[in-house]
Amino acid sequence: MNVDGQPTRTIAALPGQGGVSIIDQTRLPFRYERVVLRGLADAARAITDMQVRGAPLIGATAAYGVALALDEGVDLAWACATLAATRPTAVNLAWALARMQSALLPLPAAERCAAAWAEAAAICDEDVEINQAIGRHGAALLQAVAARKAGPVNVLTHCNAGWLATVDWGTALAPVYAAFDAGVPVHVWVDETRPRNQGASLTAWELQQHGVPHTVIADNAGGHLMQHGRVDLCIVGSDRTAANGDVANKIGTYLKALAAFDNGVPFYVALPGSTIDWSLADGRAIPIEERRPDEVTCITGETTAGEVVTVRVAPAGSAAANPAFDVTPARLVSGLVTERGICPASRAGLAGLYPERV
Ligand code: MRU
Repeated sequence: MNVDGQPTRTIAALPGQGGVSIIDQTRLPFRYERVVLRGLADAARAITDMQVRGAPLIGATAAYGVALALDEGVDLAWACATLAATRPTAVNLAWALARMQSALLPLPAAERCAAAWAEAAAICDEDVEINQAIGRHGAALLQAVAARKAGPVNVLTHCNAGWLATVDWGTALAPVYAAFDAGVPVHVWVDETRPRNQGASLTAWELQQHGVPHTVIADNAGGHLMQHGRVDLCIVGSDRTAANGDVANKIGTYLKALAAFDNGVPFYVALPGSTIDWSLADGRAIPIEERRPDEVTCITGETTAGEVVTVRVAPAGSAAANPAFDVTPARLVSGLVTERGICPASRAGLAGLYPERV
């Protein structure tokens, strides 16, 4: 997607420099800055501190983290263990590390380094193709709405599952971009997504860069908008989807699914196959990341003087809890939008699209 009109990926190897360029997402929307990861520690820290975030991009960064580690002479098993410990919920992390290990372990040690860079690049290129396919399938949902109503198709999304959460195109936003580029009138309701505000700071930024009409709303506004017919469909992403179609995604997703269900608003989840955890029969065993309480008690913003500051919004000394994800039961999900098509959120639905996995 474009940044200031220039086609841009979220992550890219720097040929001949032994580094990997990423967007520092902790600085958006106030500053667009790229930083260079130079080793395993940089890659692990970028994931833990959420300079990169979003399940597919976490996986891609981990893959490049393995390449950086081998360049430094770090043992493959140690590198994978270090990266696996960075964040618990997005299963693309474990998926990418398993793929790197199965590509590298059969090779002689002398060949592993070059192969790691090639495999990480392949993961990134495939991510782009997969997300474009998700976009093509999902755009049909928006086109169907546009065919039966006047005015823009109103999509509600939560957190950031746009191109910033992937290598390019995004998951939940790929259908929005595909439909918008095809001339469908689209408007996106962007949940601010407390506590880290990925909606207000990242989704709004990337939609603005692409020129897609959008409106940022407080997290609590979605139910009201649905009651009043102002949302045609919801599309969100996923960090881990169980084999029965239960979906872990950013905290607050479940409440939006409940509101959508109560109001008869279709609720779709867009995800690549690498986000499906076939080892989990349902969502109950999905590990839910608990993050620092100060992400809840404090908030970061830009003053009118252009200074980026963090301020406290709760009394000093109040306890705060910060579960970062929740699980939406499959029964509340209208369909899963994957690179292989749209299926019911059920074991049979997923098995129909991925028969080789069952
Ligand atoms: O904590 P984050 O920002 O890494 O969480 C990302 C999400 O939960 C997104 O909503 C997204 O849907 C999953 S990744 C495409």
